[in-house]
Amino acid sequence: MKRPIIAGNWKMNNNQAATKALIKEMVPLVKDAECEVVVCVPFTSIEIARKAARGSKIQLGAQNVHWAENGAYTGEVSASMLAELKVKYVIVGHSERRQYFGETDSTVNLRAKAALNANMKVILCVGELLSEREDGKTAEVIIRQTEEGLKDISKQELKRVVIAYEPVWAIGTGKTATSQEANDTIKVIRKIVRKLYGRASGQSIRIQYGGSMNAKNVKELMAMPQIDGGLIGGASLKAEDFAKVVNYHA
Ligand code: PGA
Repeated sequence: MKRPIIAGNWKMNNNQAATKALIKEMVPLVKDAECEVVVCVPFTSIEIARKAARGSKIQLGAQNVHWAENGAYTGEVSASMLAELKVKYVIVGHSERRQYFGETDSTVNLRAKAALNANMKVILCVGELLSEREDGKTAEVIIRQTEEGLKDISKQELKRVVIAYEPVWAIGTGKTATSQEANDTIKVIRKIVRKLYGRASGQSIRIQYGGSMNAKNVKELMAMPQIDGGLIGGASLKAEDFAKVVNYHA
């Protein structure tokens, strides 16, 4: 049985004090979660989040990682630096990074491999722009991003990879993909994984939906056969909202 995974992506929100307060508020609310619970915080909040989450269901995630071990890469953070802080998951290839920070399929791949090499798990984001969907290019884009993102990642390492399908037009817009649209595109992703790694891997890889997922639509989305979890932005910034998503089965 695959364990669903709900991950919060705080983006560039919450200083240390706010992090501590929010995590402490979340801990009791998610204690009966049946799914895996991850919260991806800003680098500067990792340490305080770890302390606040100690002994709870909440696992720590980061939102980016550099591929080099160390060196002259101003502003970047390496995988071993994150692993040292007990970070379990790293988001790579979020569409905001692709759009605003020049992230490409090949840098996404390098970042994913670095996180895996440091024994962390990866949430690899893929998703089409609105213009690409309108041009009928959704599958093409998703296939390219998935294939390039997973390049040179072994079958063994793939067990530590979660893919997040996030249609860019649904992120932070309040516009969710219909559960059917999400399910259909995730099916395409699963097919590529199957082609690259075989039937069992295609079946077992966890694929999340992300994009305005919240307490109201989580049940319907999670009921779809292809959807194994969610990557939650806005609704992860309030403890009660996030807990409702995490406890979607209740
Ligand atoms: P959203 O963000 O839930 O606010 O749409 C999702 C994400 O960007 O991961």
